[in-house]
Amino acid sequence: MSAHGKPEVDPPPPGDDRRTFLSLASTSVMACGLGASYGTLGVMAGRFLYSGATTEMAWLYVADASKLKTGDVVKFETPAGHKVTLTRRADAGTAEDFLALSSTCPHLGCQVHWEPQNNRFFCPCHNGAFDAAGKATAGPPADAKQSLPTYTLKLENGLIFIQAPVSVVGART
Ligand code: FES
Repeated sequence: MSAHGKPEVDPPPPGDDRRTFLSLASTSVMACGLGASYGTLGVMAGRFLYSGATTEMAWLYVADASKLKTGDVVKFETPAGHKVTLTRRADAGTAEDFLALSSTCPHLGCQVHWEPQNNRFFCPCHNGAFDAAGKATAGPPADAKQSLPTYTLKLENGLIFIQAPVSVVGART
């Protein structure tokens, strides 16, 4: 006890303030580093988990509508190598006249082909069949209720475009 009634405290040894400062500084740097690391991890996890929600889409020119008669079925391949079957079903002059389906069987990825005599798409790998609208009607795709994927279409100045993920289109249009 000091003469003033206050407890006596030993003065800090020389260099103690410096050690405290360095300790606090290194703790702060570590905390910032951890924060940055978890932040980066969070962003990467978000991109992975929600990648479907941010899929970049593009329009791709497929055909000149005036070159197709009702009932025509033509094949088209995107620059990325995805095969599409385009069918003209009506002659009203709108995008609804056309149907664009993936030619890739949703069962195990073989290529389907149009059989006009049977009015169906047929997959030779496991005898899968689809009606003209792409709905599975036979084989493993029908058992699993796997229809042919449909592309959104638009008709602009007589030209037909499909909308698809940039990875399917193969290039920005
Ligand atoms: S891959 Fe088409 S039916 Fe199996």
